Amino acid sequence: MMKHKKFVTKDLFQLANQWLGILSFLFLIACGDQSINDPVEKKVSGLLSKMTLEEKIGQLIQQNSEGYSDNKIGQIKNSAIGSILNETNPETINALQKIAVEESRLGIPILFGRDVIHGFKTIFPVPLGQGASWNPQIVEEGARIAAIEAASTGIRWTFAPMLDIGRDQRWGRIVEGFGEDPYLTSALGAAMIRGFQGERLNDPTSLAACAKHFAGYGAAEGGRDYNTSIISGEQLRNTYLPPFKAAVDAGAATFMVSFNEINGVPNSGNPWLTQQLLRKEWGYDGMVVSDWNSVGEMINHGYVKDPEEAALVALKAGIDMDMENHVFSHLTNLVKNKKIKESEIDEAVRRVLRLKFKLGLFENPYLATTQPVFYAEEHLAIAQKAAVESVVLLKNENNLLPLANTIKSVAVIGPMADAPHDQLGTWVFDGEKSHTVTPLTTLREEYGSTLKINYAQGLNFSRDKDTKQFAQAIAAAKASDAVLFFAGEEAILSGEAHSRADISLPGAQKELLAEVAKTGKPIVLIVMAGRTTEIYKELPLVNACLFSFHPGTMGGPALVDLIFGKAVPSGKLPVTYPKMVGQSPIYYNHKNTGRPPVGNIENIDDIPLEAGQVSLGNTSHYLDAGKDPLFPFGYGLSYTTFQYSDLKLSAKEIGKDEQLVASCVVTNTGTFEGAETVQLYIRDWVGSITRPVKELKAFDKITLKAGESRTVSFTLTADDLKFWNNDNQQLLEAGDFTLWIGPNSAEGLETNFKLKE
Ligand code: NOJ
Repeated sequence: MMKHKKFVTKDLFQLANQWLGILSFLFLIACGDQSINDPVEKKVSGLLSKMTLEEKIGQLIQQNSEGYSDNKIGQIKNSAIGSILNETNPETINALQKIAVEESRLGIPILFGRDVIHGFKTIFPVPLGQGASWNPQIVEEGARIAAIEAASTGIRWTFAPMLDIGRDQRWGRIVEGFGEDPYLTSALGAAMIRGFQGERLNDPTSLAACAKHFAGYGAAEGGRDYNTSIISGEQLRNTYLPPFKAAVDAGAATFMVSFNEINGVPNSGNPWLTQQLLRKEWGYDGMVVSDWNSVGEMINHGYVKDPEEAALVALKAGIDMDMENHVFSHLTNLVKNKKIKESEIDEAVRRVLRLKFKLGLFENPYLATTQPVFYAEEHLAIAQKAAVESVVLLKNENNLLPLANTIKSVAVIGPMADAPHDQLGTWVFDGEKSHTVTPLTTLREEYGSTLKINYAQGLNFSRDKDTKQFAQAIAAAKASDAVLFFAGEEAILSGEAHSRADISLPGAQKELLAEVAKTGKPIVLIVMAGRTTEIYKELPLVNACLFSFHPGTMGGPALVDLIFGKAVPSGKLPVTYPKMVGQSPIYYNHKNTGRPPVGNIENIDDIPLEAGQVSLGNTSHYLDAGKDPLFPFGYGLSYTTFQYSDLKLSAKEIGKDEQLVASCVVTNTGTFEGAETVQLYIRDWVGSITRPVKELKAFDKITLKAGESRTVSFTLTADDLKFWNNDNQQLLEAGDFTLWIGPNSAEGLETNFKLKE
């Protein structure tokens, strides 16, 4: 009897639901809503009208894979999950999908997701390294390849790109983004989204991209992962949000909210962020997923008291899917207890279904092909190109690089010379180290017959403190014409939850380098790391330095080509390179302060004993690190030299609806063909909210033959001169501006212009 009753209630419930669906459809017609003519919207509405509350909530739940387990099979049959993450076996994906399509009541396919961050099998440089390429095209090509490889296993959703601005090298996740600048991150983030999503989302090689972590995650206090972010309104709008707006404009199919809170409100429960800003103001109609248990973690934040309240607050805030379902199963009760309206659930379900339709999962739920596409030759070629472009030449005393052919023997020293796992970097779940080509392998293969290679790593891994192999390394250096010293950090020392308070080269690497330097041999230091590690004491010991971040599968051939001049460095720093960790957070687009660091830069060693307290005349700097970083944002050398000349503006004054064209001539004055990233910065001198000392507004990476000149021009519009204040207002204020075009954020040709009232 009880059973029957339940059955009747459920039937009635379904009937009422169908009527609701039909009524809302009629309502939309009456309101003249265009979306009802959209074929996808029609399908979404049709399907939604047939779904029970439980089936709807199932679509909002994502769970980690357990393979082809009884538990998962049961959940899928009961339509209790909408998405699975971390399943990569194509047979399992097809088998689970078959159950969803053929054995669940409505046959709604599962969406399979995975962190495909900088490649799937073929691994590209870590995103921070890709940031150093300043090349949207290579970033897009890399993401396209990652999508092709991942989609060939049935994955159709990646949790990338990470668009968090990173100003603190301690933060482990700085490696996952494109650096410190909103403009560069926007450009490269949009490129990565285009690459993942391809020409159309329903192409079987496309992945839905996910703009993450929304927002302000990179402002974690002290660079400690998951830590609190305190961000003023103007900083949020001017610095942290632009890359996310660019992601909306680039058509990012999904967004992920971040673990952190901003100013006391966790992002998994912030209706202003997700509903007001993202959906209403930016017009975003895609799906929003939580981070892994970030909804449930609002309890730890002290923002909600229990899982049910967490689910309530998150859904109301506009989170559509609960990653790893820690709390969304409570939504059923919340609807039954009338704390959430079913129509609110419907909105979230619509966004999930819409994505599944757009991906073509209903038409083509299964893998069309099982042809392996991993590590294809053209994939490796692009990975190598990307690695070349991600390397920044920081120092090249007396043009030691490229190595001259008078060098007949090299000592290859250091823990990263032959570290196939670590050279891939963080967030590599699928790329195999057996496919990594290390610098040592490349050197032996390509130069083994012409060059004597004396390999003595000195340390087995980056944290190794054991000095017993030092003697061999020193002997190798003594027996060679030059030293290639491969230093850095293991992959596990950056990435999620891997922040460091000491960002110098770990283990006994500093000591090893100091010993090797005593041999007096010319040294090329190559650093593979997930952040710009502290090297200010090591740089004077070496003659040249290539900073490669973690360069990925093809890092070896890329670096060897650079070392021997088959390729020419063109990377530019996507972050300000601090001298010392104590300078963090550090970024070029800082405010001027009332006491900017010009004039008196007091050094700690010059202070007399028992000096009296004096502040007058002093400026904003560190006694022991001065005012400057080790290298400025945008910095990077080449084997050739570039000269900037003839800076011109189309006008000295422009109106608020006029454009400004700025141009200059760039000449390759050296002897190599090379690529240069030409950068345009502005400064707005006076604002109703103080403005940064410089802001990147445009860049162009050009290739010039030796002796070749080219005019590079940029067009600025009013949008480039606008900024946000603390009252959520975007302003365009008349006044004086300085404009620079140059090779980095600290140098360049300079001129002024005025924006008229
Ligand atoms: C937590 C990370 O913060 C996020 O970036 C990632 O996509 C998810 N875990 C899934 O692995």
